[in-house]
Amino acid sequence: MQDMSAYALDGRTAIVTGSGSGIGRGTALEMANAGAHIVVAELQQDAADETAAMIRALGRRALVVATDVTSVESVENMVAAAVHEFGGVDILVNNVGGLGPKPKKTTITELEIDEWESLLRLNLTSQFICCKAFITLLLRSDRRGVIVNIASLAALVPYETSVVYGAAKAGVVSMTQTLAAEYGKRGVRVNCIAPGHVRTPIPEALYQGREELRAAQNRIIPVGRWCEPEELGRLAVFLASDASSYVTGQTIVASGGMTYFLTKVH
Ligand SMILES: NC(=O)c1ccc[n+]([C@@H]2O[C@H](COP(=O)([O-])OP(=O)(O)OC[C@H]3O[C@@H](n4cnc5c(N)ncnc54)[C@H](O)[C@@H]3O)[C@@H](O)[C@H]2O)c1
Repeated sequence: MQDMSAYALDGRTAIVTGSGSGIGRGTALEMANAGAHIVVAELQQDAADETAAMIRALGRRALVVATDVTSVESVENMVAAAVHEFGGVDILVNNVGGLGPKPKKTTITELEIDEWESLLRLNLTSQFICCKAFITLLLRSDRRGVIVNIASLAALVPYETSVVYGAAKAGVVSMTQTLAAEYGKRGVRVNCIAPGHVRTPIPEALYQGREELRAAQNRIIPVGRWCEPEELGRLAVFLASDASSYVTGQTIVASGGMTYFLTKVH
């Protein structure tokens, strides 16, 4: 008889940051499908409640915690709430990030220092804050743990007009390697996903009415289309499960085979 239990997350608890939308929601739902209970750590209450309802419809428990991942205090409170509800946490998915609420052209000469610092905080410092809180929790107990960081293909190839985004995501790749090396012997695995184009609300809006650009983009993607959030969610499930027990410190590129960005889009 086949035994697929290594691929399952039965009974585990996963914090998924920014799981009110896009890749975070897709990951939360796929992890719930695989058997995990989910902490929806999200800034927007309504979006978080919607995700929680979807998780409960799959028969798993969901805890919504209003969280700002750029704040140490907020993240520590969220982790404490997760422990209070579930008794511990096994998985952290560091998903929050992006180009900010108003994505715009940002070559180095146009980028102000406060915009640089704010996008660095959203994309890199937030993951440091969450990793620190989670690893501190694991070290206080005898639990093993898994971290999945979300970076971007922009960490690995140039993405015009996005100097801070690429730099921050490259930092995520590096932090993944360092934490994997530092905590591997303690039973903590840390991996990273670098997505290409994913069909989530902000990039969809950037391409709205620019069908020629979208078609050109699809031509340089070997699989010929954008990624669905759930497809990344299933990769995150694999990285969080015992099926990937000998994989750590790695960045998995999920770009449909795309190896460079075509052009600037904002
Ligand atoms: N969509 C893509 O094409 C793409 C490509 C490569 C990498 N990524 C990365 O994937 C991740 C998710 O992207 P997405 O497109 O799904 O984003 P999204 O904007 O659809 O979702 C992000 C979620 O995070 C929440 N959020 C924002 N700031 C927060 C904060 N400070 N604290 C807590 N929650 C916060 C938002 O409310 C939202 O629900 C990001 O790190 C992004 O850089 C996305």
